Parts: sequence; C-alpha cells; structure tokens
Amino acid sequence: MTDFTPRLARNLAKLPPYLFARIDALKAEAKSRGADLVDVSIGDPDQPTFKHVVRAGKAAVADPANHQYPSYTGKLSFRAAVAQWYRERFGILLDPATEVLTLIGSKEGIGHIPFAFVDPGDVVLVPNPGYPVYSAATLLAGGEPYMLPLLKKNDFLPDLDAIPDDVLRRAKLLFLNYPNNPTAAVADLDFYRKVVAFARRTGVIVCHDAAYSEMYYDGAKPPSFLEAEGAKDVGIEFHSLSKTYNMTGWRVGFAVGNASVIKGLGHIKANIDSGAFGAVQDAGIAALTGDQKPVEKMRRLYQKRRNVLYRGLRKLGLKMKKPQASFYLWCEVPSGHTSESFSSLLLEKAAVVCTPGNGFGAHGEGYVRFALSVDVSRLEEAVERIGKVL
Ligand SMILES: Cc1ncc(COP(=O)(O)O)c(C=O)c1O
Repeated sequence: MTDFTPRLARNLAKLPPYLFARIDALKAEAKSRGADLVDVSIGDPDQPTFKHVVRAGKAAVADPANHQYPSYTGKLSFRAAVAQWYRERFGILLDPATEVLTLIGSKEGIGHIPFAFVDPGDVVLVPNPGYPVYSAATLLAGGEPYMLPLLKKNDFLPDLDAIPDDVLRRAKLLFLNYPNNPTAAVADLDFYRKVVAFARRTGVIVCHDAAYSEMYYDGAKPPSFLEAEGAKDVGIEFHSLSKTYNMTGWRVGFAVGNASVIKGLGHIKANIDSGAFGAVQDAGIAALTGDQKPVEKMRRLYQKRRNVLYRGLRKLGLKMKKPQASFYLWCEVPSGHTSESFSSLLLEKAAVVCTPGNGFGAHGEGYVRFALSVDVSRLEEAVERIGKVL
C-alpha cells in the first residue's frame, strides 16, 4: 500500500494545535505519573446545569417535534426568549425574527462569521491576548488577523487610534470581548461609544463577544455593547448559555444585533450546519425565562473563589488586578520567568495546571491565567502548593 499522508489545506496548516488540546496532552502525561492535579486551566464551570433546565431538556428530548431537522435560524420561541432576556437584562429591544440567531454555542458563530464577510486579503482586527478562535477563524476564511495589543497600561482595552490607515482600509471585522478572556478586564459604555464612532468612521463590522457578561462580582453588572447608541447599526453581540447557566456541554448560544450581519451569518450557517437540536433550545428557553436565582447563587460561589485565589496569590507576592468579572485571574509571572516556564514549574512541581498567557497571543507573554473552575478548598490547596515552589 502506498503511504497515505494527506496534506492539510494551506489555511489549516497556518494554525497551531488548539491551545487546550496541547494542555490536555500535558495534563494526561502528568496524570499518568500519578499527579493529583488542581486543574484551573480551562473556563469550564464545574457545577451541573440547573435542575429546572435539565427537567425541561429531558421533556423536550421526548417530544417528537424535536426529532426532525431543526430550523436553520433557531426556534422562534428560543429567539423570543433571548429578546425577552435582553430587554430585562440590558433594556434593549430586539426583533426575534431578524435580530436574533440561535448558535450551536457561541464558538460556532464566532468561528463562522469571517466566512460571511471576509475575502482573501481582508483584515480582521483581533484582540491579543484573546480567545484563540478569532484569529483561527480569520485565517481559515483566508483573512489576515491584525493584532490589537491589550496592555495593562490601557486597562487591557485596545487602542483603536493606533491602527495604521493602510490596515484600516482593508479591515472588515473587529472582534472585541468584555468581560475579557483572558485578562478579566471589563469595558464601560464610554468605551463602547468610542467603538461605535470608530465603526461608523471606518465601516468595520463590530463583533462583540459577551460570553462572560453574567459572571460579575460585587454587583458591578457589565453593560452590553448594544447599549451604546447606534451600536445596532454597526455590529452584533455574541452570547452563550455555557457559563451563565452551566451549559457548556449542551452547545447553545446566540448572536444578536444588526439584521444584515445576522442574516449574513445565518446564510453561512444554513449552508454548513442544520441548526441547534430543538430540545437544547427548549432547555435554553427554560434557562433564559426561568428563575434567575441560581445564577445569582453561582455568582456568589465564584466571588468566594475569586476572593480566596486573589488573596492567596497576592500574599505570595504575585501581581494581578482584582477581577470585577469573568471566570479568570490574569496573573503576572514572577521576574525571571516566562509564561511557559512559570506554568511548567506550577505543573511539574506543584501539580497546578494554569494556562500560559502566551497561548492567547504574543501580548499574553509574561502572564498566566487561572480559572475559577474548582472549589475553595482546592484553590487553597493550589495556593499552598504554589507557595512552596516560588
Ligand atoms: C471569550 C469566549 N467566547 C466564547 C466562548 C465559547 O463559548 P461557547 O461556545 O461554549 O458558547 C468561550 C469559551 O470559553 C470564551 O472564552
């Protein structure tokens, strides 16, 4: 038999292995050596989906109406629930028929949107450090990511005025993400107003990723990008039920905002996937329209974890801002270390798995990210172990 080694498509070959796939391999290796790992590397809530949501999902699985191909754009009932949630949470009115699209998790929508609007040679403005999917999807669609540094001195907000004119002329999309992964920064309405003015001036489509909008602390609710006047004229917002309702495994999210952008994304999706499972959308309706007290309870739980980890790491002399939102602590590595050397030290000597900041892009160098994904006693254990190896 001749050797069968298929050559990857050029665009795919440009991508490094997915960050968390790499970390999974390192974890597996440490586990095989018998290490008792405290894993704070991935932003995956450890708590189960709320009971009333699971109940609704179970009943919906048994409903034959959900057994055939779902609608491409999502159930109108799900999109209406999204519109209601948006009105109650942000005071924003959305037309469920044209301004809301169901997604198979927000990663799916983020991964597909460049295919709707980016031609070869077009530029996509991408925060760096950032969620890796923004640049991966851009490259797969044949576009060029242009990195917007998120720096401590700018409160981890991009400096839009620093983008050169020749880049702006080719720029098609701008990805933003607040509360931010991985820096845990938040943006205020003033920033979003500047983004709207920037988009009006340049014609760039804004794609704001608000996956962590409900993971906030000390009562400081982050605004939606769509609250800025005119935002709906220039862009959309991605949302996820994953973190808010402990539903990462169910794969359901949504995009809202500008009807033409939503239509473009829907056009791509209709040609590639066949919509989210109806039962998952029914469970999503129960989550969005049902009792929100469990969400508040989750926030309190994460706030406790944030306090324990933040205080513990600060006591050890590590530097970071106290996060007001998101699932993460963005921690500066001690002097003499790189992101990789510090995260390797923690994995090998303390059996604590964090994420090296440079995995989120070059401007993440000098940082590691801790997720609030394990309970307080394990976080205390992690701090104690880290203290012994510093
Ligand atoms: C910033 C950001 N956006 C989007 C997602 C994707 O979430 P999902 O596809 O589960 O909705 C994640 C997941 O970790 C994320 O960190």
